[in-house]
Amino acid sequence: MASYDVIIIGGGPGGYVCAIRCAQLGLKTACVEGRETLGGTCLNVGCIPSKALLHASEMVHETAHNFETMGIATGGVTVDWEKMLGHKSAVIESNVKGIEFLFKKNKVDWLKGWGKITAKGEVTVGDETHSAKNIVIATGSEVSPLKGVEVDEERVVSSTGALALKEIPKSMVVIGAGVIGLELGSVYKRLGTDVTVVEFLDAITPGMDAEVQRQFRKLLEKQGIKFVMGAAVQGVEKGDSLKVSYKLRKDDSEASIDTDVVLLATGRRPYTEGLGLDGVGVEMTERGQVKGSHGKTNVDGIWVIGDVTTGPMLAHKAEDEGIAVAESIAGQKGHVNYDVIPGVIYTAPEVASVGLTEEQLKEQGRKYKAGKFQFMANGRAKANLVTDGFVKLLADAETDRLLGAHIIGPAAGELIHEICVAMEFGASAEDVARTCHAHPTFSEAVREAALACGDGAIHS
Ligand code: FAD
Ligand code: NAI
Repeated sequence: MASYDVIIIGGGPGGYVCAIRCAQLGLKTACVEGRETLGGTCLNVGCIPSKALLHASEMVHETAHNFETMGIATGGVTVDWEKMLGHKSAVIESNVKGIEFLFKKNKVDWLKGWGKITAKGEVTVGDETHSAKNIVIATGSEVSPLKGVEVDEERVVSSTGALALKEIPKSMVVIGAGVIGLELGSVYKRLGTDVTVVEFLDAITPGMDAEVQRQFRKLLEKQGIKFVMGAAVQGVEKGDSLKVSYKLRKDDSEASIDTDVVLLATGRRPYTEGLGLDGVGVEMTERGQVKGSHGKTNVDGIWVIGDVTTGPMLAHKAEDEGIAVAESIAGQKGHVNYDVIPGVIYTAPEVASVGLTEEQLKEQGRKYKAGKFQFMANGRAKANLVTDGFVKLLADAETDRLLGAHIIGPAAGELIHEICVAMEFGASAEDVARTCHAHPTFSEAVREAALACGDGAIHS
């Protein structure tokens, strides 16, 4: 029986970052991971592989659509799917090995196997029991099932199967117009698949700024993705092809679509199977999340971070919670600012947001001003043939303090961080507007939107 200051269960972005930080703070640390490799959902079957395929497929699209305009002749683009998947696997391998290296460097013990909390301060992995002053639950999430849709990861796939299809399908029905559905739907659309997204609600990407939602849908439709909105999927029937049946919410009428592949992307749920939480009395929410407050559960010495607890299911949120909990365990004041957690959708164009939406501000009855700037008027965007989209900044009507940013357009996922930093420092829109921005950059669109919160943008 080995004894540790901290045992973290789960080696995803929450768990592995927490483990490294604990070790850096001088705590004797182990991380339990049941997968063959470290890195969790994100590195193995999530963020990283999906971005590898998004980038590769975007290159295909760029070559086929913009090269000729820019005077580059290619003689036609072909896709070697097996090689593209190989590229994806190589990217995963290099990332997960990187975490193994960091564990060795920081002297974090990797306890290989599935962990169970068998008592307060006690974690069992296989036949071995270890003691720990602190246990951190970082077990992440899994795909939420949908009644009538049986995932086989071959023809009816979750995101995991969609990242490893044997061939590029002729047609695909995506159930759910959330982040996974639109990112992976985009990958296959660009590779030539006929993609139809069936969404329960009337808008895509629930919770996003409504103006961004509308523009985003228009742009995806322009790329050829079809949408069936306000439709509740009833089931998928497996024959030679797949039949996806749905009911329209507005009139209860029923219809179906035949397709080669179905991607189920209707959300993820916390993963706590076999963890023994009942036995030690850890409190859960009605949605199966482990309850936490600043990372503390109701049981002394048991902490929680990442997808398995409340809040957005995002890798960087899990990482930040991992660092905060490590610092709290070490006696410091670990803290996460939940008001400034960016969200990015890595489609083309990218979509990024932070802070409050206009809808939330209206709901709160808060007076605000909105400054908007279209990429159409940005010199760099014109040069790069990526003029779709806009930057919208929201600021308090009286104090001018930045309250939110919503960007759809080139490099939105990078641009958003200027506003994150500004918001962390309590900056005003004028602070951003008065900061010199290099020309010609996409970032100038952010400055122009900040100017538009005041007297007006220069270039619109
Ligand atoms: P996880 O990454 O799920 O890791 C938990 C780990 O714990 C797993 O490896 C699991 O095997 C292990 N585990 C569970 N139970 C036990 C046990 N009892 N014993 C031992 N080990 C156990 N987020 C972003 O921010 N950006 C993105 O671009 C992005 N893209 C995504 C794309 C896809 C297709 C998917 C599915 C998700 C994506 N996400 C993205 C979400 C992101 O992957 C998660 O938010 C993130 O992985 C959560 O980290 P975590 O550490 O909480 O959990
Ligand atoms: P999601 O919650 O983003 O979207 C699910 C969508 O499915 C919603 O629009 C919902 O209305 C719809 N839906 C639910 N039931 C339905 C039904 N019966 N029929 C039709 N539509 C239905 O979930 P998603 O896309 O599965 O992603 C899971 C998590 O992974 C998200 O929380 C997200 O944060 C994370 N993720 C993050 C990424 C990023 O940051 N770029 C990329 C991919 C995933």
